[in-house]
Amino acid sequence: EKSGYEHFMLKEIFEQPKSVHDTMRGRLLVDEGVIKMAGIWDHIEKFKNANRIIIIACGTSWHAGLIGEYLIEEYARIPVEVEYASEFRYRNPIITDKDVVIAISQSGETADTMAALKLAKEKGAFIYGICNVVDSSIARITDAGSYTHAGPEIGVASTKAFTAQLTILSLIALKLGKHNGNLGNADFMSLIAELDAIPKKIEDVLSSTHELVQNIAKDFVDATNFLYLGRGYNYPAALEGALKLKEISYIHAEGYPAAEMKHGPIALIDENMPIVIIAPKKGHYDKIVSNVQEIKARKGKVIAVVNRGDTQVSEMSDYVIEIPETSECFSPIVASVPLQLLAYYIAVYRGANVDQPRNLAKSVTVE
Ligand code: M6R
Repeated sequence: EKSGYEHFMLKEIFEQPKSVHDTMRGRLLVDEGVIKMAGIWDHIEKFKNANRIIIIACGTSWHAGLIGEYLIEEYARIPVEVEYASEFRYRNPIITDKDVVIAISQSGETADTMAALKLAKEKGAFIYGICNVVDSSIARITDAGSYTHAGPEIGVASTKAFTAQLTILSLIALKLGKHNGNLGNADFMSLIAELDAIPKKIEDVLSSTHELVQNIAKDFVDATNFLYLGRGYNYPAALEGALKLKEISYIHAEGYPAAEMKHGPIALIDENMPIVIIAPKKGHYDKIVSNVQEIKARKGKVIAVVNRGDTQVSEMSDYVIEIPETSECFSPIVASVPLQLLAYYIAVYRGANVDQPRNLAKSVTVE
């Protein structure tokens, strides 16, 4: 079942070139310059007339939702809010029949997400589901949706479901943007070509960084804390990297937007603090360079995820993980892969039960 891999999590990490491809299959038709998504197309008026889109999710799916916000606002220019399902359901939120709610859930069984959707539905919102498990409870109560088609995810730590969610959100944002005229044809065409190339880039990252990340992990087996920093699209990727590490290795980790460091977390930095920085060329690179300078001035240990050929951040960093370049909006899909591997190997070297971490369940069906 694990196809020769030691854990489901590792198998699922390595499945991502295929799972992301499967998510796009039949939807992304690059030669025709079309994104086909019946769920969106059949309800295009709902999306076009929406006052706003509210994305509701928990955990990793919520991180995907944050990236979805950046994507949809950038390309479709529709206002988006992202909510933790558990907060949304209990705070008497304002919802109307002009709202479109997008629920993101791998399992489709998360109790808080389900309850939040029921509430939104009662108030007349249109509910769109992004689920992985076909015919799951959430998939069944939504008005329409798109399955992620990542295949069964067994490891408690979500990996391939996350990159599949990002792929679907990218498709939705580009399709809506193209349709409502906010995304011009030339940009649309170049973005879909980039998206189409993502599975190959993930494959590239897996083969070029696997051994390196394994070696880096060995140096951090005894770490007690970790910071993950990113900006723009890679800020949620930093949150997700930190969540992966904490849930399977039990090392305390926090993700932060890099610029927020000076508002508090910078006080934590000394020679014992490992800091993972996501710093691709496209996306506030110069700002990240100064963040790295601030960290190095305080002797923090920097593990940088950069594009191949990078010099500025690399020269200052203690460890460098190179990934291929892509559009800024898709960079979290590629950058997340080495962070999954890093969390995985640190946990393995600590002797943790990677596929079934303590206190956690694959689907959280109680609140
Ligand atoms: O099945 P869901 O996507 O609704 O699950 C949401 C979270 O429980 C889930 O993403 C959780 O955070 C994972 N263990 C993260 O790896």
